Amino acid sequence: MPERIYLDNSATTPVASEVFDAMRPYFDSAYGNASSLHAFGREARRAVEESRAGIAEFLGVLPEEVVFTSGATEADNLAVLGTAYARDRRGGHVVSSAIEHHAVLHSVDWLASHGFEATLLDVDETGRIDPDQVRAALRKDTFLVSIMAGSNEIGTLEPIAEIGALCRERGIVFHTDAVQGFGKIDLPVESVDLLSASAHKLHGPKGVGFLFVRRKTRLSPLMLGGGHERGRRSGTENVPGIVGFAAATRLAATERDQVTTRLRAFRAKLLEGVAAIPGTRLNGHPTESLPHIANFSFAGIEGESLVMRLDEEGIATSTGSACSSPDLEPSHVLVAIGVPLSMAHGSLRISTGRQTTPTDIDRLLDVLPRVVKDLRDLSPFKVGE
Ligand SMILES: Cc1ncc(COP(=O)(O)O)c(C=O)c1O
Repeated sequence: MPERIYLDNSATTPVASEVFDAMRPYFDSAYGNASSLHAFGREARRAVEESRAGIAEFLGVLPEEVVFTSGATEADNLAVLGTAYARDRRGGHVVSSAIEHHAVLHSVDWLASHGFEATLLDVDETGRIDPDQVRAALRKDTFLVSIMAGSNEIGTLEPIAEIGALCRERGIVFHTDAVQGFGKIDLPVESVDLLSASAHKLHGPKGVGFLFVRRKTRLSPLMLGGGHERGRRSGTENVPGIVGFAAATRLAATERDQVTTRLRAFRAKLLEGVAAIPGTRLNGHPTESLPHIANFSFAGIEGESLVMRLDEEGIATSTGSACSSPDLEPSHVLVAIGVPLSMAHGSLRISTGRQTTPTDIDRLLDVLPRVVKDLRDLSPFKVGE
């Protein structure tokens, strides 16, 4: 069996050795609670605050605007629910999109069933939201717009700066889930009030993320307790995780241009290679895309079978989003961009990372046509007939 190849970096990434090394002391020697007064505690506090400052500098914001959380699910929940709870009155209107991550969608749904109103915007066939749609959806009582920076399933980038400008003019809080873009693309942070990110998508550890909260943005905490994170998120800080997130951000800052150029070239090669297989389509925008995600549909094939067969060949990919993989409903994102149901079931997401090599891509493109043919030969539905 050849070496295993990992092409599921949108689900999670391997922790970089630099990140692991930076975290290590905070497990076994500098293990203090960052709230303790003694030297162990002060050492941990220093590490947390230096990490916060490093991440803030990279993002171009103030350190006190970075609120560490347990990941982006919590950051998204805090953004959507925290903004709603901070209002003086119950009720009001929220705008989001049909292709958001479930951490946003389910938070918006929850609001909609608890006295708020929500509009979920449609997207075009590439997954793009038109800022004019946002403008048309805004109402007098709209207090929050939440639109992701780039899709975790199909990679499509959204016009965040334009949407942010519309919100700013009207005093509406604008949140973006930037999980897949943070450290890979330039994010127009000056146009947003709230921004979520997660370390494990960036070669950092799982279980740590942050929400950028622009100064003066009203936000109620969801976690109540000891008043950590300036009262915005109680709970003992995950010191090794936070240090790891900062190390991953430093790494991204130094390598970003080279890594992104490499990932874009891999994506171009994948688009060309898959287009040569009959009965396939690209899901997402051909160019306005995150560099590391390519999503395709294969007529006459179940995505799960394709993922399993590639796994037998030692190649890890995914169908739909990792979080919803166990359920066999077609992905809400593919439905939203109008992929026919027959094709939506046969989707494959290939996502690359800093460790991906040209040989990995060559091997996938070598194996894929054969696997697709084998599966189609087994299927009662013949493609092209
Ligand atoms: C776009 C997006 N938002 C939110 C999340 C949730 O992040 P976490 O795993 O840190 O909770 C993910 C991870 O799948 C994601 O891709």
